[in-house]
Amino acid sequence: ISHLKRSIVEEESQGGDAAGNNVCGKLTEIFRTALRVAYPALTNAPVAVQPSQVEKFGDYQCNSAMIIAQQLKAQGSPVSPRVVAQQIQANIPSNDVIEKVDIAGPGFINIHLKKSFITPLVTGILTQGVLPPPLSKKRKVVIDMSSPNIAKEMHIGHLRSTIIGESISRLMEFVGHDVLKVNHLGDWGTQFGMLITHLADQFPNYLNESPPIQDLQKFYKESKVRFDGDEEFKKRAYKMVVRLQGGEPSIIKAWELICDISKTEFNKIYARLDVKNLIPRGESFYQERMNVVVQKLEAGGHLEFDDGRKIMFTPDSAVPLTIVKSDGGYTYDTSDMATLYQRVHEDKGERLIYVVDAGQATHFDAIFSGCRKLGWYDPNNVRIEHVSFGVVLGEDKKKFKTRSGDVVKLVSLLDEGLRRSLETLKEKGRDKVLTAEELKAAQESVAYGCIKYADLSHRRTNDYIFSFDKMLEDKGNTAVYLLYAYTRIRSISRKAEVLAETLKEAAKTTSIPVEHPKEWKLAKCLARFPEIISRTLDDLFIHGICDYLYEVANTFTEFYEVCYCIVKNKQTGEIESVDTGRLLLCEATAAIMAKCFDILGLHPVEKM
Ligand code: ARG
Repeated sequence: ISHLKRSIVEEESQGGDAAGNNVCGKLTEIFRTALRVAYPALTNAPVAVQPSQVEKFGDYQCNSAMIIAQQLKAQGSPVSPRVVAQQIQANIPSNDVIEKVDIAGPGFINIHLKKSFITPLVTGILTQGVLPPPLSKKRKVVIDMSSPNIAKEMHIGHLRSTIIGESISRLMEFVGHDVLKVNHLGDWGTQFGMLITHLADQFPNYLNESPPIQDLQKFYKESKVRFDGDEEFKKRAYKMVVRLQGGEPSIIKAWELICDISKTEFNKIYARLDVKNLIPRGESFYQERMNVVVQKLEAGGHLEFDDGRKIMFTPDSAVPLTIVKSDGGYTYDTSDMATLYQRVHEDKGERLIYVVDAGQATHFDAIFSGCRKLGWYDPNNVRIEHVSFGVVLGEDKKKFKTRSGDVVKLVSLLDEGLRRSLETLKEKGRDKVLTAEELKAAQESVAYGCIKYADLSHRRTNDYIFSFDKMLEDKGNTAVYLLYAYTRIRSISRKAEVLAETLKEAAKTTSIPVEHPKEWKLAKCLARFPEIISRTLDDLFIHGICDYLYEVANTFTEFYEVCYCIVKNKQTGEIESVDTGRLLLCEATAAIMAKCFDILGLHPVEKM
C-alpha cells in the first residue's frame, strides 16, 4: 500500500498521523488501519468517523461499511454492509481508545470510548492548559480581512469580514501558524482624482497645514457634485489621477492625508472590536506589481483584445478577467492578480484566505482559476480560498438600513450596542450589585460580545438578521447566555472557598470523576475540543465553535443539576463538604469555554 503524501487539505482535517489529543483523529487512524487490513484492495476506502448524534448509538460512529459495500458491489462482488462492518470490527488494531464497538442497523459501527482514555485528556486541560490539536506543519497564513474603502463608509459587510477574519486569525495563531492579517484597503482608483483636486482647491496650503476635514464622506460627496456638474473640474480630476499614479510628491502627500483621515476612523472601530496587528496594505501597494503582472501576461501571450480592453479567459469561469481597460488603466481584477502573486511569492504564504462577501465569489473563482492556469501556485502546496459570507438583514428581512434608508454607520451601531447592553444589565438589577467599573466592563463585554457572537454563530454563508433584541436574550445560543454561564461556573470554586492554586495542585493527584453518567458525558464533551478546532481549521466555519461552546454550557448544566459539588448545611448554610473531583470538572469546563471565547474574540468578565 502506497503512503501517498497527504495534501495540505487532508493534513489539517485529520490532525496528521500523530492525532494526539484529537479524539476523532485518533479514531480515524484506528479505523484507517482496520480498513486497510480488511480491504487491502480498496485503496480509496473512505474512513468516515464522526461523533454520534444520539447517546444510545455510542460516542462516535464509523459509517464506512455502507460505502464500502457499495464499492464492492460496483466491483461485482456484493457483500452486505453488516458483513463489511463485522469485517472492519474484526480488524480493529489493539488500542487504548476504544472500550467496545457494536454494530447497529444496516452496518453502523457504534464506538464506545474508554474512560481511561478520556480522563487524562481532561486532567491535561487543568495541568497543561487548553492545548490545540498537534500541528503537522507550521504554515504561513495570509488573511485578507476587513478591507473597507478609503473616503467611503465602512459598512456592515466590512464588519462581518472584520469579525470573521479576526476569529479565523485567532484560531490560526492558537494552533501555532504564522499569521499575517492584511487590510486590503480600497485606496487607489479614479475617485482620488476628484478628491485631491477638491482638496487642493479648498485647502491650497495642505502641504504645510493638515486640512481640518472631519467628515470625509461629506467631502467626498462635495467633490462628486463638482465632478458631475463641472466639466473643467472633471478634466483636472482626470489629470490628477495621472499625476498621482506618476508619483508626484505633493500629490502623494494629498493622497496620504485623505487615506489617513479614513484610517483614523477605521482604527477606532478596530480598537473597539479588539482587532490588533491588522496591516494596512491597500490596492496602492500593488501599483508597480500590477505593471509587472501585465508584462508577464503579455509576454506569455495570455491576453486577448476585446473592444480596446485586454482580457484573459480562465478555465473555470465564463467571465474573462479584465486586465487592462481601454484607457490603459488597471482594474480590481488586475490588482487581485498582483495581490495573489505577491502573497505567494513574496510573503511565501502557504494558505491564503480572503474573507469577502459572497457577492464577489465569481471574481475570486476567476482570479484563482487564472492563477492556477498560469502556474502561479501549486494547489497541492498552497491552499487558497474565498471565505465567503452572506448579507446582514434588518428585522424586516430587507437589506440592513437605518429607518431613513441610509447605510448604518458602524460607530453608531456599536454605540447602540453599548446603550442596549447597559439597559439589559440594569433591567437585571446588576447596576445595584456591581461597582461602576465592573458594570462598565460587563457592559462592553456584553455589547461587543453579542454583536460578534450573533455574526459568528450563524453559518457564515447564510444571510442573517441583525436584531439587538435577539442577541441580548439571556436564553439560547447567545453571547449573553454563555457569558453568564461562564461567570457562574467560575464562581463555583470561589463559593466552595477553594483557591485556584489548590485546585491546580489537586488536578495532579485527584482523578477526574466519570462514574456518574452526567460526569462521563461532560468529560467526553470537553475532550472533543481539539477535534472541533481541527475541523474548523479545515472548513473555517466558525459557527462550529459556537455550537460546541453552547453544547459545553448545556452539558455542564445537565451535570451541575444532579452532581453536587458543594454540600451545605441546610440550617446554617455552612459548607459541609466539597467534591474536589467535581470542582475539577467545573474548572476544566471554564477553561475550555474561556479558550473558545478567546478564539471568538469575546471577553468574559469575572462578575456580571
Ligand atoms: N475593498 C473591497 C470591497 O469593499 C474588498 C476587498 C477584498 N479583498 C480583495 N483582495 N479583493 O468590496
